[in-house]
Amino acid sequence: MTRKNWGKGLLSFVLILSLGIAGCGMKKQTVSTDEKRENSQREIVIGFSQLGAESDWRSANTQSMKETFTSDKGYRLIIEDGQQQQANQIMAIRKFIQQDVDYIVLAPVTETGWDTVLEEAREAKIPVIIVDRKVDADGSLYQCWVGSDFNLEGKKAVEWLHQYLVSKDIPDNEVNIVDIQGTIGASAQIGRTNGLLEGVDKYGWNLLDMTVGDFTQAKGREVMEDFLKKYDNINVVYCENDNEAFGAIEAIEDSGKKVGSDIAAGDIMVISFDAVTKNTMKHILQDKITFAAGCNPHHGPRVEAVIQQLEAGKKPDKYSFVEERIYSHDATVPSIELNGTNYPVTVVTKDTMEEFE
Ligand code: AHR
Repeated sequence: MTRKNWGKGLLSFVLILSLGIAGCGMKKQTVSTDEKRENSQREIVIGFSQLGAESDWRSANTQSMKETFTSDKGYRLIIEDGQQQQANQIMAIRKFIQQDVDYIVLAPVTETGWDTVLEEAREAKIPVIIVDRKVDADGSLYQCWVGSDFNLEGKKAVEWLHQYLVSKDIPDNEVNIVDIQGTIGASAQIGRTNGLLEGVDKYGWNLLDMTVGDFTQAKGREVMEDFLKKYDNINVVYCENDNEAFGAIEAIEDSGKKVGSDIAAGDIMVISFDAVTKNTMKHILQDKITFAAGCNPHHGPRVEAVIQQLEAGKKPDKYSFVEERIYSHDATVPSIELNGTNYPVTVVTKDTMEEFE
């Protein structure tokens, strides 16, 4: 039950009691029914601090929230776009507190620096739900978190690459990788970069360079152009999301080089994350992106389930990971195994493309 429910509950209790004291049973019945109707029609106001609009994944994520929290279901969703700036997100949360919303949903740009504003939300008794990336703050400052296992995504990409190289008899010391990183300090960047670093350490691949690409197509292209000027032996590009991959592919093709999985023949292989659009599936089908680890953006229904649990006075799970698939251009690696779990690889076909928008 939210603070507002408590207030309304108290009001109705006082109202019913005074009507009861007045000795009018019939009226008491009428007020109680009206009150029930009012409660069932109560609008739930949600302030959503979205971190930005940097990628296709982000657009799908915002859309999922909009499609879920509609007025005909009794919600009012207020979205504030942080434009990739934590200061904007902090301002948005303070605005939500002033507006006295029922719930604050935060998709944080980076992990650190949230304690003060989350304490302010707690003082105002507004429950906070974290989505997508995590916050490095005391767990008591938010109700729960819903999102992806970014470390696992990184490990999946690395294990797939390892299996692929083994199948093609490509020696580890001939692998020259560059990493276009996501926004530094974002959980998605931390997990995916760490996955790669573990792989480099374990298999002895050459990591030529790593630079931030901010999860955007423009920056992905710019970073790749610089890498191509600096190194003439790149054969794998590890892009920490699809939009960076689209930019990197443009840069590679403009330089006269070819993207693709045939490293031995001089291709530059592109590995990516997200796989949420038909456009990505098309890139995989064409072997422009050879492998992509899926990252599920459809958090709207999950956040709604949490809110409904809280409305019913229940305690949601503190951390919920979403399930995610992995995709490849071909069936060289049919599945990968990590910590005893088998992850089948979806080979992208025209039919797979039809599952996406
Ligand atoms: O936090 C999720 C990541 O953020 C997605 O992989 C990326 O596309 C987005 O910008």
